[in-house]
Amino acid sequence: MKEILALNAFDRATATALDADVQRLVDQRHRVMGAASVLFYDTPIEMVSARGAFLYDANGLAYLDCYNNVPSVGHAHPHVTAAIAQQIAQLNIHSRYLHRGMHAYAERLLATFPAALSNLTLTCTGSESNDLALRLASAYTGHTGVIVTAAAYHGNTAAVAAVSPASVRTVAHSGTNASPVRVVRAPDSYRVSAADIGARLAQDVEEAARDLEQQGFGVSAFLVDSMFSSDGVYADPAGFLTDAVAVVRRHGGLMIADEVQPGFGRTGGHLWGFQRHNLVPDIVTMGKPMGNGYPMGGVVTRPEILSALCERVGYFNTFGGTPVAAAAGMAVLDVLEAEGLMANAEQVGAYLRECLRELITRFPAIGDVRGAGLYNAVELVDDPTTRSPAASLASAVINGLRQRRVLIGAAGPHGHILKLRPPLCFSREHVDTLVRAITETLVSLGH
Ligand SMILES: Cc1ncc(COP(=O)(O)O)c(C=O)c1O
Repeated sequence: MKEILALNAFDRATATALDADVQRLVDQRHRVMGAASVLFYDTPIEMVSARGAFLYDANGLAYLDCYNNVPSVGHAHPHVTAAIAQQIAQLNIHSRYLHRGMHAYAERLLATFPAALSNLTLTCTGSESNDLALRLASAYTGHTGVIVTAAAYHGNTAAVAAVSPASVRTVAHSGTNASPVRVVRAPDSYRVSAADIGARLAQDVEEAARDLEQQGFGVSAFLVDSMFSSDGVYADPAGFLTDAVAVVRRHGGLMIADEVQPGFGRTGGHLWGFQRHNLVPDIVTMGKPMGNGYPMGGVVTRPEILSALCERVGYFNTFGGTPVAAAAGMAVLDVLEAEGLMANAEQVGAYLRECLRELITRFPAIGDVRGAGLYNAVELVDDPTTRSPAASLASAVINGLRQRRVLIGAAGPHGHILKLRPPLCFSREHVDTLVRAITETLVSLGH
């Protein structure tokens, strides 16, 4: 109710006018999609178009998108949409034919990786990429044990859901002796000192690895998202992953870097999140931003790792690596380069953190501001001394921002961490709008 009162007159009129219509859509959605339907916000929004960093609803109202990382180079980017349209009007076929566009894309993408990672397999989603990565690691190492962080999310296939503790409803037994999955604590830089984070993670991984060996699983892989997206976004100190990865390798396991979220320039300083930790992973998985909305995923690895699986069972993905996918992927790389989006992520992200940190002194509920590039988080606490998670406040803030037509989401095991992950074309003006909206929302909520 407080948020509704805080609306300006124009929004209030619109909200009322839309109510019946939105309700009809919500009812229809639940009827056709049933239990699988998940909707954002207390007042869901019907979106009809988008451009750059903005989404537009059925009434033509603009919403500043501070959440969606799939349209990473900007919603409906004309260069990407033209590339897709042109190619689909000419040829779209599975990857069992020679196609120069696909080769050119693979060469260009692989050139962004350390030289050892010289083979690319294209898929359609991050889940498929991680599913394949798990199979590769297991075939190469001969082990089945997988180590992941406490609230990690790596996707939706049966195998990947089993290593995604964030999917609690599907992973009832992960982390128990009977399962080949071990869960380690997230590198919580708000509660653990920078000096201790790397050592604590390495120690946790060592214990997990020993346990997996004792149970006869052995260590196949440490599957890790270098930004710890669903754990709560932990970027610093850069390099804290190195010791944990060394432990995994000592136990004969591989490092799978899940770049579905941090990849393609989001963290600013580097194209890939693992580079922040000065690591060369054994396998890298990609998804979301790869095709800017065209469904694309990929796995990059060393030839001997790919051979370990493919010489036995092969791998084919009907829609992975089609000419249209290659065109979309190529166009995304064009835009990233031509518009300097990685540098933009670095500069605008630093400005965003600076503005948000100024709010810490004003609002005790803001416990921590952290991130890298345009992947940032604001941790909300009930009490800055005990640092207890403020989950209901986070939900109220997210809905309050939505009423101000600024879209964000939540992360962390309690959903109390505001996740700010806009398209990489985000500008300083957009930051000012976001920070003003957060300030107004906290004030309207009595903070
Ligand atoms: C880190 C990470 N890995 C993998 C996935 C799965 O990607 P997809 O939904 O494209 O299958 C996600 C999706 O949110 C993710 O956040």
